[in-house]
Amino acid sequence: MLDWNDGHNTDTHTLSGTHSAIPSPTPAVHPAVVMNAAARNTGLEHIDMGERRILVDDKKIINCRADLNQLVPFKYKWAWEKYLAACNNHWMPQEINMTADIATWQDPNGLTDDERTIIKRALGFFSTADSLVANNLVLAVYRHITNPECRQYLLRQAFEEALHTHAYQYCIESLGMDEAEVFNMYHEVPSVHDKAAWCLPYTKSLSDPHFHTGTPENDRRLLRDLIAFYAIFEGTFFYVGFTQLLAFGHRNKMVGVAREFKYIMRDESMHMNFGIDVINQIKIENPHLWTQELQEEILNMMDEATNLEIRYAHDTMPRGVLGLNAAQFTGYLQFIANRRCAQLGLRQLYPGAQNPFTWMSESIDLSEEANFFEERVVEYKTGGALNWD
Ligand SMILES: [Fe+2]
Ligand SMILES: [Fe+2]
Repeated sequence: MLDWNDGHNTDTHTLSGTHSAIPSPTPAVHPAVVMNAAARNTGLEHIDMGERRILVDDKKIINCRADLNQLVPFKYKWAWEKYLAACNNHWMPQEINMTADIATWQDPNGLTDDERTIIKRALGFFSTADSLVANNLVLAVYRHITNPECRQYLLRQAFEEALHTHAYQYCIESLGMDEAEVFNMYHEVPSVHDKAAWCLPYTKSLSDPHFHTGTPENDRRLLRDLIAFYAIFEGTFFYVGFTQLLAFGHRNKMVGVAREFKYIMRDESMHMNFGIDVINQIKIENPHLWTQELQEEILNMMDEATNLEIRYAHDTMPRGVLGLNAAQFTGYLQFIANRRCAQLGLRQLYPGAQNPFTWMSESIDLSEEANFFEERVVEYKTGGALNWD
C-alpha cells in the first residue's frame, strides 16, 4: 500500500565499514567537484552500493541531491495524483469521427469565410505551439526539475503534447487542408508568429547545456520561465482558440474538430494546474526567489501576453461570428489574467474584469463525457497490431 505521508521508511541502510564487492571504477576526485556534481543531479549519476535509503525530507523540486531514480517515498502526492488522473483521461485523436466535418468543410456553403479563417488560424497556431511546449519540456524544463514524481507527470505531459500535435495533423489531413499553409502560419501570420516568438526567450537559457540551477539568479530564471510556459503560454495563449472551437461545437458545426479541441483543453487545464503547483512549491521551498522585482516582471509579462492574445482575437474575428466578437475577448482575457495572477499569489492586473463565457468552465467538466472515457478504454489495441517477427 502506498502511504502518502510516508515518513516511516527511514531506516538508513549504510554499509559502513564494508566495501562493495565490485570495485568502483570512479577515480578519486576533489570534494569540491563532488559537491558541484551533486548540485547538478540528473538521475544518471554513478550508482553506489550501500548508499543510504531516501527519506521523504530529502526530496525537493529543484536542486535536490537525493537519487532521482526512486519514485517513492512520495513527497508531492499532488504530482502523482495528476499523473494518475491524466492516465485515466487517456484518449487518441483518431477515435473521433470526422465524417460530418469533412462534408461541412467540402461544401462551399458549409461554413462562412470568417468561420473558415478561425479554424485555419487555430490549427496554424496550435500545430506549432504544442510542439514548442513539448520541446521546452523535454529539452529545457525536465533537466532542472529534480523530483521523480514531478518528472513522472512531465513524461506523461510530453506524451500528451505529442497527442495534441497528432490531433491537429489528423484534423488537417482529414479536411484536406493545405498542410504547408497551416504549419508555416507562425512564419507568415503576424498574430500567430508573435505569440510563438514571445515564448522563445523563456526556453532558450534553460535549454543551454551550460545553464544550471543552484544560484538565486538562475533559480529565479527557472521560476520565471516556468511561469512563462505554464501560466502564460498554456494558460493564456490557448484560450481564444479554445473558446472559438468550442463555440463551433455548441452550434453543432465541425463537431469532430471541436471535440478534439475540447479534450485538448482538458489536458491543457491539467498541465497548467500542475505547472502552477510546481511553481508555488518552488516558492515555498525557496522564498528568497520570489522578490518584488520578479513579481513585477511576471505582471509585465502577463500584461504583454494578454494584449497579444487580444490582438489574436481581433485578427481571427474581424467581425462577429458564432455568437462571439473580439470585444468580448478583451474582458475574457483580462479575467483569465486575473485568475492566473491569483493562482500565483500576485495582485489582480485588471480589477473588475468579468467572464463573458461562463460556459467555458463547464466544458472542462469530465463527468459530462464520462461515457466516452468509460466506453472506449476496452477498445484499445494493446499489441494486436504489432508484428512480433
Ligand atoms: Fe498541448
Ligand atoms: Fe500542454
